[in-house]
Amino acid sequence: MQILETVNDLRAWSRSARTEGKCVGLVPTMGALHAGHASLIRAARERCDAVAVSIFVNPTQFGPNEDYARYPRTFEADCAMAESLGADVIFAPAVEEMYPKGAVTYVDVEGLSNRLDGGSRPGHFRGVATVVAKLFVACEAEHAFFGQKDAAQVAVLRRMTSDLRLATEIIVCPIVREADGLALSSRNVYLSENERKQALALSRAVRRAEELVARGERRAIVLVDDAHAILSSEPNVRTDFVELVNWATLEPVDIAGRGSLFAVAAWVGTTRLIDNAIL
Ligand code: PAJ
Repeated sequence: MQILETVNDLRAWSRSARTEGKCVGLVPTMGALHAGHASLIRAARERCDAVAVSIFVNPTQFGPNEDYARYPRTFEADCAMAESLGADVIFAPAVEEMYPKGAVTYVDVEGLSNRLDGGSRPGHFRGVATVVAKLFVACEAEHAFFGQKDAAQVAVLRRMTSDLRLATEIIVCPIVREADGLALSSRNVYLSENERKQALALSRAVRRAEELVARGERRAIVLVDDAHAILSSEPNVRTDFVELVNWATLEPVDIAGRGSLFAVAAWVGTTRLIDNAIL
């Protein structure tokens, strides 16, 4: 497995793979890899002949009071995991490589970027769209793999790819959970033992919505109220949002339809966690 640090090297690797007739897959990550990331690398391995995993803690998607400085960085272990899953390349650029000195160009997916997580994290999706556009342009992959865990991110990136007519196809993989339901996240390491238990309220709230829909309930107000009740039953959990939206536009819907996104976000202590279900 090669470790590449420059956009030019990544592009050269990808072009040479394509010259050999290989299909190139990209898995963008911020590192601190866990079984959720592993599922994406496996999916890329199954579908593509050459797989690049990017590891880049992207400063522009963090707000001024967020956890950029203390975000977990476990590069050695990440490389070992990616290699064991059959990645061909790790792309690990420095900040100045992705954001050359004086760079002033950003990608803004208007409207969508202000919904769900974008509502409570201003500028977050602008940072995500910008870095992923740069990665897509650098890697020229046929397919890029993302987790449904970040469902609003998927909606923003699908729209960006379509608007910019980018050639990379986005593949979405299911949420990987712990045995007790907690969605895997690099931020779970911030949770104390007690918070870890309380964090289960998010997956419970999501599961409850799925159960209600399975029983025939379709009204957003009922699904949302139930989730609020579950989240607020935990003393250290502070709800950020509970919403039923159209997954493509992220606009709220009153009645759940095929492919509606039910999304929750909450603070558990000082850690912000998210979860969702496609109904
Ligand atoms: P990161 O949080 O490292 O996540 C990288 C990818 O792993 C995302 O597509 C995310 O949805 C997926 N993922 C995380 N937890 C998952 C889980 N439990 N099950 C399935 N997939 C999971 O998302 C980002 O990084 C960044 O915003 C990025 C796209 C890399 C841009 O900087």
